[in-house]
Amino acid sequence: MNPHPPFNKAEREAVYRVIAERRDVRRGFLDTPLPEDLIGRLLAAAHSAPSVGFMQPSRFIVIRDYGIRKAVRQIFEEANVRALDSFSGEQAERYSGLKLEGILEAPQNLCVLCDRASERGHGLGRQTMPETAIYSTVCAIQNLWLAARGEGVGVGWVSILDPTKLCNLLNIPDHLTLVAYLCLGFVEGFAAEPDLERFGWERRVDLKTVVSYDRYSEEHAP
Ligand SMILES: Cc1cc2nc3c(=O)[nH]c(=O)nc-3n(C[C@H](O)[C@H](O)[C@H](O)COP(=O)(O)O)c2cc1C
Repeated sequence: MNPHPPFNKAEREAVYRVIAERRDVRRGFLDTPLPEDLIGRLLAAAHSAPSVGFMQPSRFIVIRDYGIRKAVRQIFEEANVRALDSFSGEQAERYSGLKLEGILEAPQNLCVLCDRASERGHGLGRQTMPETAIYSTVCAIQNLWLAARGEGVGVGWVSILDPTKLCNLLNIPDHLTLVAYLCLGFVEGFAAEPDLERFGWERRVDLKTVVSYDRYSEEHAP
C-alpha cells in the first residue's frame, strides 16, 4: 500500500529545519531573478497542497513587471499610512520603523487567489464550512513558503493592501478572492527570529500556553 520508503533521520530533520528556519522576509532580496524551473517547483509545491473536497481552488499570478509592482507598492504606501494612523505614541513610532514589504526589492511577486465558486470537489466538506476553500489556499501558500525556504528563496507576505484596488490593478475577476500577495526572491540570508520579534513589536507565545487537553482551558492562555 505504501509506495514510499520511510524518511530517514536526516530527511526528518530537514523537514523540521525548514519549518523552524522559515521566515517572513522583507529585506535583503537579491536582484537575480528566480529561474523559471525553480518558480515551477514552488508553484507545484503549492498546487500539491491539501484542499477541501480536492477542489484545488488556488490560482496564481506571477508578477515580474516593474510598473505593476510600482503600482502595488503605491497601494501599500496608502494602506500603510492609514495603518500608522491607528497607532499612537511609542507604538506608532515603533510601527513607522518596521519594514513590512519587499515589493520592489524582490524581482518577482506572487498574487494568490481562491476560486470559492468552483464546482470542483462537488461541495464535499464545504456545505458545513464554506470557508474551507480559503483555508485550502492558505495550505497552498504554506507549502510554497516551506519549499521556498528549502530552495534558499525568501518569501514575504504583504496584507497591508486595499484588496479592491489590488484586484482592479491585476484585472482579477469578481469570482476570485484575494488571499495573499507575496514577495519572492533569493536573499542574503534568513534571520534567526521573526522581524517583529527582533524589532520589539511582538514576542513568540509559549507553546504550553496554547495547548489544552480534552476540553478548552483558559488556564495558561496567553
Ligand atoms: C496572513 C499573513 C499576513 C501577513 N502580512 C504581513 C504584512 O503585511 N507585512 C509583513 O511584514 N509581514 C506580514 N506577515 C508576516 C508575519 O508578520 C510573520 O509571519 C510573523 O511576524 C512571524 O514571523 P516569521 O514568519 O518570520 O516566523 C503576514 C503573515 C501572515 C500569515
